[in-house]
Amino acid sequence: MQRRHLLAAALALPGAGRAQAPIVIKFSHVVAPDTPKGKAALRFKALAEARTGGRVRVEVYPDSQLYKDKEEMEALQLGSVQMLAPSLAKFGPLGVKEFEVFDLPFLFKDTEAFRAVTDGPLGAELLRRLEAKGIKGLAYWDNGFQIMSANRPLRQVSDFKGLKMRIQSSKVLDAQMRALGAIPQVMAFSELRQALQTGLVDGTEGVPSNFLTQKIHELQKHMTLSNHGHLAYAVIVNKKFWDGLPADVRTALDGALKEATTYANAIASTENEAALASIRASGRTRMHTLTPAELEAWREALMPVHQEMTSRLGQATITAAYRAAGFVAPSR
Ligand code: LMR
Repeated sequence: MQRRHLLAAALALPGAGRAQAPIVIKFSHVVAPDTPKGKAALRFKALAEARTGGRVRVEVYPDSQLYKDKEEMEALQLGSVQMLAPSLAKFGPLGVKEFEVFDLPFLFKDTEAFRAVTDGPLGAELLRRLEAKGIKGLAYWDNGFQIMSANRPLRQVSDFKGLKMRIQSSKVLDAQMRALGAIPQVMAFSELRQALQTGLVDGTEGVPSNFLTQKIHELQKHMTLSNHGHLAYAVIVNKKFWDGLPADVRTALDGALKEATTYANAIASTENEAALASIRASGRTRMHTLTPAELEAWREALMPVHQEMTSRLGQATITAAYRAAGFVAPSR
């Protein structure tokens, strides 16, 4: 009896007993550590741990080590992981299909146009819509413009005819590949390399940093610098977990994420340019730049996708994106 009292008294002393276990944030993602997203995740980890004085430990799991694209969304909702940064093309299955507006072909003339959408009211509204799904959207991370790859040159729209092209789960990307005459195949990012190797798909779209780190250039003889689409991520957390954090910890993490976001957005274009240069230097892949006439033919083939997707995305979402991006739809 007496011993029990002593123990209780000892545990009540400040600093006595077990040191408090850190709050663990499992941050899962699907790409290599040596990519803009991989680096930004590690930057967030370093900042978060330093600013909370070790009260938070961030465990980053790259390369789909824990979960593939669709599974990681489910794991976040269940609380098996606390943080993700999926591409904006992967929110449809979650039920927030308006994120696919970012996949409309040739919507963004440059990075500033893209940022104007994420930094504006539409960007904020889309993150807000995640709350009904038990998810809190914290930031957007840019990863630049998409290019196309295959084992044949892709210059004319007719070059796509019959090609099986891997896409992310977005219906806008599905419509885009169909508009080019290709056959879209939805597939998790972690399965892409093997699918190209075994001939399950013939080609893909993607960004140079992902092509280089997945060694796609060793499997694809041709790449077209089309910049027809754009890849970016939303950094998201389990809402219940986030709201339940001590306020001072959440503030520190908010600050760490803000800084990691600035870093992510600052390195996206230089990292992708460097990756493109490495792919070029490897000599494994031939790079194609479209002539103005070829580019115009791509645009003509792809513009109807905007119209076709109105019922899915909603006119209001499309109009808001156009306005923020400064996009003027060509007159028909
Ligand atoms: C893809 O699936 O191609 C990309 O979303 C992968 C990524 O996270 O960059």
